[in-house]
Amino acid sequence: MNPLRPRYHFSPKAGWINDPNGAVRVDGLYHLFYQANPHGLVHGPMHWGHATSVDLANWTEQPIALYPEASGQCFSGSAVAAREGRVAPELAADDAILLFYTAHRDGSPYVEDQAIAIADRGMTSFRKFAGNPVLPTPGPRDFRDPKVIWHAATQRWIMVVTHGQSIGIYSSPDALSWQAESEFGSSEGRHGTGPWECPDLFPITVEGSGEQAWILVVGLGQGHISGGSGTQYFVGDFDGRVFRNRHSAETELFMDWGRDYYATQSFSGLSGEDPLAVAWMSNWLYANHTPSEDFRGSMSLPRRLTLIETPHGLRLGQRVDDAVQAAFDPLSVAAGTPATPPSAAYRFAHRWAGEVGDELTLSLFGEADPVLTVKRTASDTCSVTINRGAHPAIAPERGFATDFTIDIIHAGPLDIDVFVDHGLVEIGCAGGLHWFSNIYFPADPAGRVTLAA
Ligand code: FRU
Repeated sequence: MNPLRPRYHFSPKAGWINDPNGAVRVDGLYHLFYQANPHGLVHGPMHWGHATSVDLANWTEQPIALYPEASGQCFSGSAVAAREGRVAPELAADDAILLFYTAHRDGSPYVEDQAIAIADRGMTSFRKFAGNPVLPTPGPRDFRDPKVIWHAATQRWIMVVTHGQSIGIYSSPDALSWQAESEFGSSEGRHGTGPWECPDLFPITVEGSGEQAWILVVGLGQGHISGGSGTQYFVGDFDGRVFRNRHSAETELFMDWGRDYYATQSFSGLSGEDPLAVAWMSNWLYANHTPSEDFRGSMSLPRRLTLIETPHGLRLGQRVDDAVQAAFDPLSVAAGTPATPPSAAYRFAHRWAGEVGDELTLSLFGEADPVLTVKRTASDTCSVTINRGAHPAIAPERGFATDFTIDIIHAGPLDIDVFVDHGLVEIGCAGGLHWFSNIYFPADPAGRVTLAA
């Protein structure tokens, strides 16, 4: 058994994976599809792999759901139960699950269209719709990653989809005929050199007020604040046609400041619960070059989302789903006393009450160099540094080594939540307002933990 195979983060038995796709709960079972190349350890002809879980912590790999063919590779997309809305009878029966994916045809230039596959409710058989594509490209070369939701207020399906460096918004009364509504973002938020990828759009309730807002999630393939790929989000309003940012166009908000949290997608099929999101734990800077023997790539832990009114405006708060937290071995860690984890999948929390000038460091895997350094720089500010040294098996020009610092506005004791799973590390700070997710390839995944304050 590969000592770096994660226990609770989903990873495939063999081959390569990237983005989560088609995250949906059907009849109490969570389904997670994902970009997969089962025949190699690098990005290649894209299939949709499939895994299921009853508790979000233990995953069972299922047979491949979608295969590449002459109509294209199956790039990223989403899943929705037909019965959430209205579906054209020639497309699917009311009890079907619709998988929206991008048919990507290689060439110069490559061509991307939106297509549908139809699954039964048990998700054991998958059939591509004979009338594909349902939405041919209107022009942009990068036209991919459809995320579809039912918009009850206007009684239509809404699709958000990559439009080069912005997000296209489309609507449909029956999931079959689609029309353009608007485009968001060419001069908002953060832009890198590549397209905005893997959008997501969902409503969320502002904690404590009951007011509704909408979150638009956008993947930055390159140019994330900590380097390479990462996930930003916008807080706004959505009327079924147009997404309006509630913050200024320059405001940049991130779901994670780590290096390994990309292509984030929320689950559909939840009702009246906090939204639940999962991401791919890698980065296009080095994803094809990480040490691997049998598999390459894994998913993040699923996190529940809340929208919190902070002194700086509305921000997403995230917490690892409760059932997933409960699966990890709890570790008790006291500052100054090295702790030995009972396994390589453990969690601990620490409340740090440092004064101005104080510093806290956290080292993992029995190594001396800290992965996290927090300094209190003012009564209401902490600087947080995430460190990851070079890896001998990854060429330095891939940019795997990172040393990234942000200042977070936070007064009073700082809560830190740490999840470690065979080298995958997710750290939440300040009650889940700031997350840092990074992959490591340690020699001793269950090595000692040292917190120094
Ligand atoms: C994001 C992405 C998507 C695309 C998929 C291809 O990581 O580039 O935009 O659909 O990966 O595997």
